[in-house]
Amino acid sequence: SDAESIDTSEISTDEEDEQEDEDDGKSAAKDIGKSPAEESGISKEPVEQDNDGKPKGSQDGTNLAKQSLKNLRKTVNIEVKRSKSVQEDRLKLPILGEEQVIMETINENPVTIICGETGSGKTTQVPQFLYEAGYAHGNGLIGITEPRRVAAIAMSHRVAMEMNLSTSEVSYQIRYEGNVTEDTKIRFMTDGVLLKEVQKDFLLTRYSAIVIDEAHERSVYTDILIGLLSRIVPLREKRGNPLKLIIMSATLRVEDFTENKKLFKITPPVVKVDSRQFPVTIHFNKRTPLDDYLNEAYRKVCKIHRMLPEGGILVFVTGQQEVHTLIRKLKQTFPVNPKNVTSDSKQKKKSRKKKTEQEKLEAPKIDLNNYSVEPVDEEAEREAGIDSDGEDLIDTTDVTDFDDGEDDISMDETAAGGCTDPLYILPLYSLLSTEKQERVFSPPPEGCRLCVVATNVAETSLTIPNIRYVVDTGKVKTKFYDKVTGVSTFKITWTSKASANQRAGRAGRVGPGHCYRLYSSAVFNDDFEKFSPAEITRRPDMNIDKVINFPYPTPPDIEQIKAAENLLISLGALTKPEAPKRFKDTKKEQSTKITPLGRAMSCFPVAPRYAKMLSLGHQHDLLPYVVAIVAALSPDSLKQRLQHMIQVKKVWAGTGHSLLLGDLMVMLKAVGSCEYEGFSPEFCEKHGIRYKAMKEVRKLRAQLTNSVNTVIPEANLCVDPKLEPPSDLQAKLLRQIILAGLGDHVARKCPDPLPTDDAAKRKKLKNAYECIELEEPVYIHPCSVLYRQNPEYVVYQYIHETSKVYMKGIVAIEPEWLPVFAATHCSFSKPLDDPAPSFDEVKGHVVCHMTSTFSRCSWGLPAVQLE
Ligand code: CDP
Ligand code: MG
Repeated sequence: SDAESIDTSEISTDEEDEQEDEDDGKSAAKDIGKSPAEESGISKEPVEQDNDGKPKGSQDGTNLAKQSLKNLRKTVNIEVKRSKSVQEDRLKLPILGEEQVIMETINENPVTIICGETGSGKTTQVPQFLYEAGYAHGNGLIGITEPRRVAAIAMSHRVAMEMNLSTSEVSYQIRYEGNVTEDTKIRFMTDGVLLKEVQKDFLLTRYSAIVIDEAHERSVYTDILIGLLSRIVPLREKRGNPLKLIIMSATLRVEDFTENKKLFKITPPVVKVDSRQFPVTIHFNKRTPLDDYLNEAYRKVCKIHRMLPEGGILVFVTGQQEVHTLIRKLKQTFPVNPKNVTSDSKQKKKSRKKKTEQEKLEAPKIDLNNYSVEPVDEEAEREAGIDSDGEDLIDTTDVTDFDDGEDDISMDETAAGGCTDPLYILPLYSLLSTEKQERVFSPPPEGCRLCVVATNVAETSLTIPNIRYVVDTGKVKTKFYDKVTGVSTFKITWTSKASANQRAGRAGRVGPGHCYRLYSSAVFNDDFEKFSPAEITRRPDMNIDKVINFPYPTPPDIEQIKAAENLLISLGALTKPEAPKRFKDTKKEQSTKITPLGRAMSCFPVAPRYAKMLSLGHQHDLLPYVVAIVAALSPDSLKQRLQHMIQVKKVWAGTGHSLLLGDLMVMLKAVGSCEYEGFSPEFCEKHGIRYKAMKEVRKLRAQLTNSVNTVIPEANLCVDPKLEPPSDLQAKLLRQIILAGLGDHVARKCPDPLPTDDAAKRKKLKNAYECIELEEPVYIHPCSVLYRQNPEYVVYQYIHETSKVYMKGIVAIEPEWLPVFAATHCSFSKPLDDPAPSFDEVKGHVVCHMTSTFSRCSWGLPAVQLE
């Protein structure tokens, strides 16, 4: 295929012009005999057709003019047969009036920016405009990226429905699932998915147009994609097979894209779509905001529902857990389940009982394993991430106190009097199943008021019809990165003014609306940032080669890039920058190169540390276990109490001692035993495992198994989820592989405090560990199986800071493994040439110090004999 004919490995992401030329020549040479028209399927000449509607014969594609798309539209079958009601609904969307302007701009410019209020029809209509203009004709593919999975799925279904096409013609791809086939014409995907595709086929030759949606969100992947596309678009133009780039945004703040000279040589035109927005009255809280904003939101919804006329309510909270907590509370107060509005009480009781059972299985439990495994999963992590030590933010036993006098909903506003309809309450967040998500688009059952409790996804990605009241907590969950260590934590902060205004705007889609802000106007004016900062300025972890020259819309912090680069160097994915030959060269930027290990790692759709484990796992038949471990790290909360699992003696014979030497090993055991026991909800419940999380693990295992089988065909992994327990030797080797991936996360037990030390020092040193990345002591989290065992050396998956700085996801290791598996963190008496030395090679280098990349500490390792 064409994708294979280009050697993408030679193309760096930040090529300067001369390199572009070079590449151009190379790919052109390989593509001899193919016309660009054949490749894109778009010919600028009128196209003769076969009976099957495909263009006939080879076209002369050298003269790719602007005009002929219109001709194409006349000559080939790209007519869309929409139903009458769809067509009527479409005509109400403001963007329909702009179709001509939009398509002319796109046809005449390589890059177009479209701005329009949320709900104006950008996401659902622009792909259809492109389709009808012929961009999906022949082999052409229209790609739309969304920062959120919810949007990718919901929008693909919606567009397929509107266009009367099958879900394989208009399909979606998110990390682990999708329905993309050969017939796909319009493909919705998360931005992370397209980013992976750029790695495989740098020029994105399958696509004729790429739409970057929700660019105002400034997610890291969106920003990186725009940077990459700013280079891909001119390359495709040179090859005579142009790619159209459309950037869509809900706000007018697009200067980062238009005025950044490094990004696009010619300033892209901006098409503005005016929208019909009804006035929204903003009500601020009089009081200083409280910490328990969920209770506050709860009270407000009760009040609105009891006192204000009909119209949907939309509540913004920060995460999945909060959504469920609030819904639980609301359902206790307004228990009417619309399904049995008319049913007798017996039935009611029965269905409620069933529901509590269901809820028991699905209710979010304390989230102890909030692991970030893979880029695209950031979103899940953000929503699932716990805030305090996993406690629900409000005490759900207290449900009576909602009748306080201080409120700004007074009787004068309730002109038509209160609404006595039942409240139909729906959740909306990213990880919710697709069917449940899509319920928000259908009208509520007859005679019910709709109330949607949502995370940020409802801010701009999805427009829920008929919302009249917005309750805004003003809060958002943000991930913070420590610039030096890369340690990240979630914090709940005030959102920005721009996003608060977007939230308010959701109330004015159908008529005049009201937005209740659960904070005072003083806080809004003084404490809210104007805009949310682009995520890229906040995170360290990016996996891009020669990142410093990369054309980002907003360049990220150099320190963070350095930290990310250091991680890749320490993992052995990039070479160490060469030492400067002469002193005066030191200022010169040293470049690093991707290593074979780095290339192998980039094949796996997981974060670098785990990609390294997978890359090494083919030895000693360990791959199925590595896959299971990596998959088990992904869902938000597999296991509440790891210690509990050790007691599961009989199941899955893997009860050998070494299986118990670490949390990751116990998670492997949880997965193994669950599969062994027939994968039942009962087994999970009995052992405190979240069945839903286990199902997710199973899915991820299947997907990773497929990836591994594609990347390493000789591995030939079994797709049957049943897993034999590892031997004790395998369990030990697994710990070595884990160390290889987590080499920068080694911690050593501090010497025991002396009886003479003062009390404070004794307390501080008791069971304390020192690690490479932090200066202060760290401790084993009580949820770990190694709590109280306190092995001398451990690796941890991540740092979790609460009252103390805790390590989580801990595995015990042997110190003599360090010079081999964490060699980049060791210094030897004689230098080692090989970045990945064997045991034999480190013999004779036994005087070895474990040193930190940040030069904070230097540990003398015991002089171990490595025989
Ligand atoms: O992208 P933008 O925010 O500009 O608008 P859109 O997502 O294309 O939505 C246009 C309209 O389609 C809105 O009024 C949505 O409520 C509606 N829509 C729907 O009814 N059902 C869906 N599954 C998706 C959108
Ligand atoms: Mg949209």
